[in-house]
Amino acid sequence: MNVFTSEKSLNERLSFSREQGNSLGLVPTMGALHQGHLSLVAQALKENNTVVVSIFVNPTQFNNALDLAQYPQQLTSDIALLKTISDELLIFTPTTQEMYPEGLNTKTYAFNGLDRRWEGADRPGHFMGVGTIVEKLFALVRPSRAYFGQKDFQQLAIIRELVRLKSLPITIVGCPIVRESYGLAMSSRNERLKPQEREAASVIYKALQMAVKKVSAKKPLNEITRAAVKKIHAVENTSVFYFEFVNADTLEPLEKLTTLENTRIITAVDFKGVRLLDNIGL
Ligand code: PAJ
Repeated sequence: MNVFTSEKSLNERLSFSREQGNSLGLVPTMGALHQGHLSLVAQALKENNTVVVSIFVNPTQFNNALDLAQYPQQLTSDIALLKTISDELLIFTPTTQEMYPEGLNTKTYAFNGLDRRWEGADRPGHFMGVGTIVEKLFALVRPSRAYFGQKDFQQLAIIRELVRLKSLPITIVGCPIVRESYGLAMSSRNERLKPQEREAASVIYKALQMAVKKVSAKKPLNEITRAAVKKIHAVENTSVFYFEFVNADTLEPLEKLTTLENTRIITAVDFKGVRLLDNIGL
């Protein structure tokens, strides 16, 4: 297994790959890997000769110090898990000093309003931190393709906008959400919940599915949203931050459905103190 902790050592290995004319895929992660991450890695391996998986818990995207402190770190088991997929992966695990040699500075981006709503509104600065680290990783790895999950739907839209803003020659590949058998979207944050709590949290996906069904039955959107929120609130200690029908490109809220194709329902829920995100297409 090839684990690189410095930009210099990774780039020595990458220059060899580049000389061979290999296509290069990048999968950025913050570790605590699960099948959702692995699905991105598997897709990247199918489409590229060389794949870099980065594992770095990026301090600048946490607007809450406790959230950062509680973020699970398990590098040894992450590396072992990646090994079960392929021995050829290049794993990049930089230090904070390596990624932020001049201190924890965050860049500012004009993300066309995409960063202001939803996660951006509830977590000020979050997407500027994501943009900063992803732009750094792109500059360092220079991938042909980079893989992101639809699980973090707003993040995916913002990364596409980052590539457009900076005219980067990188194809962004959005990958489907991987779920537990009972429906909960996999997330490193689920580890903070007990097994029965995780099963109960599948109410979020059930509410999304119910909303899709009600759309087919032509119910008004505000009625659908009310019913979905009620369903989630029926589980103890839950609070819905938002549950919204949005345009899948601009993430602007919709009051009426004009098209099914470009519509997404996005939600964030405080589930027993853990912020869980999910979304579904129509
Ligand atoms: P992290 O939460 O570790 O997620 C890494 C990637 O895995 C993201 O693109 C995320 O959308 C994807 N992912 C997570 N759970 C998934 C699931 N259940 N199904 C499909 N994909 C899933 O997102 C980040 O890290 C960071 O913000 C990062 C982009 C690495 C920048 O620091």
